[in-house]
Amino acid sequence: MISSVDKTCPLTFASVDPDAALKAVVGKKRSEVLAEVAASGLKGRGGAGFPTSVKWNLAAAARGQEKFVICNADEGEPGTFKDRVILSDYADLVCAGMTAAAYAIGATRGIIYLRGEYTYLRPHLEDVLARRRGRSLLGPKILGKDGFDFDIEIRMGAGAYVCGEETALIESLEGNRGEPRNRPPFPVDTGFMSRPTAVNNVETLAWAACILANGAEWFKKHGTEKSTGLKLFSVSGDVERPGVYEFPLGITIAELLRHVGGENAKAAQIGGASGHCVPASQFERTIAFEDVPTGGSVIVFGPDRDMLEVAENFLEFFVEESCGQCTPCREGSRKLLEGVKMLRKGTCSMKYLRELCGLGQTMQLASKCGLGQSAPNALLSIVEHFKDDILGRTPQAV
Ligand SMILES: Cc1cc2nc3c(=O)[nH]c(=O)nc-3n(C[C@H](O)[C@H](O)[C@H](O)COP(=O)(O)O)c2cc1C
Ligand code: SF4
Repeated sequence: MISSVDKTCPLTFASVDPDAALKAVVGKKRSEVLAEVAASGLKGRGGAGFPTSVKWNLAAAARGQEKFVICNADEGEPGTFKDRVILSDYADLVCAGMTAAAYAIGATRGIIYLRGEYTYLRPHLEDVLARRRGRSLLGPKILGKDGFDFDIEIRMGAGAYVCGEETALIESLEGNRGEPRNRPPFPVDTGFMSRPTAVNNVETLAWAACILANGAEWFKKHGTEKSTGLKLFSVSGDVERPGVYEFPLGITIAELLRHVGGENAKAAQIGGASGHCVPASQFERTIAFEDVPTGGSVIVFGPDRDMLEVAENFLEFFVEESCGQCTPCREGSRKLLEGVKMLRKGTCSMKYLRELCGLGQTMQLASKCGLGQSAPNALLSIVEHFKDDILGRTPQAV
């Protein structure tokens, strides 16, 4: 179930006709589609907030006979479950967004990379694709437009969090071990099978379809100048009403918590395990790419939560999911986990805690991909904002 803020209004995705998006697309030149998405200011909903139009422009400009559009449906970030709901209820909108992207960049093949745990969604998605082929919304000459040929296939992930990172995802699609690639080259230039490839999050593609159906100005009615539009949030933890919500970007954390019944929280983890832990004293901050960014995960911690237990839980996840390719992440996440265990027992000295924080900062700078770069985030923000919890257990003398 998705809940909109204003219960009297239909949820945006429910109110947009996916066919209208594609009809608008075929009536435009490729450059006009790119310009509309650019004018909307749409930024990627997968976490990094990269401008969608920049990605599509680069892929459109790349040389290559064959290009690909990949829908990243790996959704492995702890606390994130909004893409699952979009794929269940609005798969046509996602397919329309992929098809629009294909038109804009000149791609002929699309792939939905579906999280292994979402295998149960595959028959539904195959049905959607078959219906679309039957209605000339996929396949050769889409909506009768000469030269507009595009089809989508589904490939399954196998349960590795790192395969949500776009270059690891591409390695996995090619049948290799899912390890992030060095960048550059970027996928827009050298992606799947070394061809230009646009990888976008499920929600980004659904919003792109909405923008092409309703226009950039419609989209910009919500959000901030730098973070335009609405966004879906997966809200979990110590709240009265967990679920998937639609809010405008720029909403304060306090306002979001009021909507979901989490007013007495002591902290909110915005952006999942790889995000930031925001204490109650900073709940007036906004959720936006220019302030506290998120791919959509909001995990709420009530007054009785032990924040070190939270940090331990996240670090166990990163130790398990690190692909092991680079030393800062492989070794660093293990050291941080050991350190948190010592902190919980009260056997970590102040000197060692400082070293752990230094190690975390090194990981942020020196890890090869976003997994290792963000693995220390939660611990560092918990150490910064919950000193009393931590110092209470730490011997002060070295
Ligand atoms: C470890 C890791 C896991 C990721 N997992 C996902 C994911 O499950 N879904 C997703 O859309 N993006 C994920 N990303 C971000 C992708 O690399 C990429 O930025 C995104 O798919 C681009 O789409 P967007 O621009 O539409 O947001 C992940 C990144 C990292 C570093
Ligand atoms: S940062 Fe971690 S997940 Fe990323 S490449 Fe290095 S070891 Fe692998």
